[in-house]
Formats: sequence, structure tokens, C-alpha cells
Amino acid sequence: MEISEHFHSTFGYSPTLISGAPGRVNLIGEHIDYNGGDVLPFAISELARAAFGARTDSKIRLASSQFPGEIIEADTHILTPLYGQMWSRYILGVFWAVGSARLAHGFDIYIDSSVPIGAGLSSSAAVEASVAYGLNEYFHWNMSMPDLARICQKAENDFVGMPCGIMDQSIALMATEGHALLLDTRTLASQQIPFDLAHHGLELLVIDTRVHHELVDGGYAERRDSCEKAAEILGVATLREISREEFESRKSELDATTYLRAHHAVTEIERVHRAVDALAAGEFEELGELLNQSHHSLRDEFTVSCPELDCAVETANAHGALGARMIGGGYGGSAIALIKSVDAENIKLKIEGAFAKSGFIEPHFFTALPSAGAQIIQQG
Ligand code: GLA
Repeated sequence: MEISEHFHSTFGYSPTLISGAPGRVNLIGEHIDYNGGDVLPFAISELARAAFGARTDSKIRLASSQFPGEIIEADTHILTPLYGQMWSRYILGVFWAVGSARLAHGFDIYIDSSVPIGAGLSSSAAVEASVAYGLNEYFHWNMSMPDLARICQKAENDFVGMPCGIMDQSIALMATEGHALLLDTRTLASQQIPFDLAHHGLELLVIDTRVHHELVDGGYAERRDSCEKAAEILGVATLREISREEFESRKSELDATTYLRAHHAVTEIERVHRAVDALAAGEFEELGELLNQSHHSLRDEFTVSCPELDCAVETANAHGALGARMIGGGYGGSAIALIKSVDAENIKLKIEGAFAKSGFIEPHFFTALPSAGAQIIQQG
């Protein structure tokens, strides 16, 4: 059923505006967006859609096809962090971060998303961005995409309570088709980097392990704290501001774990720039090697991988991938493999086989094509 029909059958009238925003794959630069470095994500074609109906009072009513039967009610004037069911907080958080002064009235909203939840593809940022983008359009605020990204991040940090960086919200809002986004996470300055693998007979296979291990959120906050602690000891605002040479020369100032966490960040920041150079030069073997180095660093130094992600990466590499790595926060979710298109079917079969042999649940696969960012799907 179309989202407008869902909206109609839930609220009894037709929506006035439908907006959408995509999930993302991060090519490289993992756990870097809260360290001030540059990251290189791109949007996938899967979208979260938000259908809006204007109300005459200040109420909000929310429904979602992913959580059928639940209608969450709130009021723009009395929103407080952590209000509502978990899924609804990403939406209410955006209203809260925007502030009731900017909202002339409330809305009925229906959410429908094809971005898989818990797959490390930023389904939550896609929902936040679709709502923020839709409100910006509806009220003609003319806010910039970086400002909307900051509103979405505030919603997630302070209303949902997840201390995420700003990569996912930014790419959902700023992506353009056929490009990855080189994003400076300090300033949100960005550059569109052409990313056309098909032209070279290559593709990026996404392997969704369909597992989501516990301690995800605690582990994320703990990694972030370690990086911030390292920056503080080293006397820099973020780990972006220290060269690799200086970092190594001051190793003795950090305890062993803090050193390893920060070493991941400092080297990953370098890898992002090497990846941009490799892409510009069409050096895909080098790009693959950088993906592998990123995975090893996330697995051994940042310790956010898990057996399913390692299995996906190792199996893809054993059967001809140019390189592979886990993406997103970690502890589950998805891995990506840079592969020759002709190898796709064989690599999928081999990964399926390896998962079955290890007793893991069956993974899901898809090919990630760099797609457009937030958009208005229907108006009026
Ligand atoms: C999650 C967060 C992002 C980013 C990644 C890791 O997706 O939401 O801000 O930190 O993890 O790169």
C-alpha cells in the first residue's frame, strides 16, 4: 500500500506533503565523525518516507508501517526527551529540536521506510532527515542542509539519548546521485566525489548480517569517551588535529586501550584521504586495500566488529573481493565488499555457505548504488 493510502486509512484524510530521505553506506571513515575528521559516505536507494497532514491544534499524532497498530500522541508545546516509544523518538526529537516557537501548529505523520532497521544503514537518521526536510519545506524556513543535519543530530543526541556523530544525518540530507560525499565533520563543508563503480565492472555488495549484538549503545559511548579522553590528554580539540607522527611520539602518555582506540581514529582519518585519491585515480585495488585496513583497525584496535561481520569480510576476500569491511557503529549490522560484478553471485553463495557452516542466521545482500538525498515526493 502507498504511504498516502496508509495515511488516509489511519487519519481519515489525505496528506498535504510527503518527504523522503535515504539510508547510507559509509565507504570509509568509521567512528570518525565525532573525532572531527572527514568521512566518505553515500546514500543508498532505500528511503524513509514521511507523510504530513497539518492540524489546527498543537498536537502530533504518529503512526508507522513498521510498528502497525501503534499511534503515538504528543504535543509540540510539552515535549520532553525520551517521551514516547523508541521508534517515535526520532520523529518527536526533531520537533523538539526545532522548538515549538517555530511550529505554528501540529501534524499527523505517517512513516514508511524501506531502510532495514538495525542493519547499520542509518534507518534512524533517514527518518529524522525526512521529517526535518519535510518541515523545512512545509514552513518555508529555508534552512541549510547543514543546519537541518544539526537539528537531527540534536534530536538523536538529546531526545533519543544516542551520542552519535553527524555523518548519517548529513548524508541523508546532502547526498547526490552517483556521488559519495566527502564531509568535514567539524564544519560540515562537503564535496561531491564521483563514485561510479559500474563503469569499471565493479560493485559494492552490502552484506546485512541481520544480527544486532547487545551493548551496542554502551559500546559506542565508551569508544567515543576513549577518543575524547585521548584528545584531552594530547591537548587537541579532536583527534583530527594531531598528526600521526606527533601521535606516535606521545604514545607513552596514553594507557594501552586509549592508545589503540585513538590509533584507529588517527589512521582512519588518513585512510579517508587516501581513498579519495585512489577513487580519483581509478585505483580500485588500492581502495580495496584501504577497506581491508579499515576493517582490521575496527576489529583489532577499536574492537567493534563481531564474528558475523568478520566472516562476511573474510569470505568475500577469499573469493575475489578487492577489499571489504564492516560499516556503521559495529557489533552487527552490515559489511561492504568491493567486488567485480561478475563475481557477485559466487561471493554471495560462498558467504551464505560460510554463515550456515558457522551456525549464523542467513544474511541478506544488496548492491548499493549511490543515490539522491532528501527530497519532496509529493506536495499539495
Ligand atoms: C553510527 C553513528 C554515526 C557514526 C557511525 C560510525 O552510525 O550514528 O554518527 O559515528 O556509527 O562511523
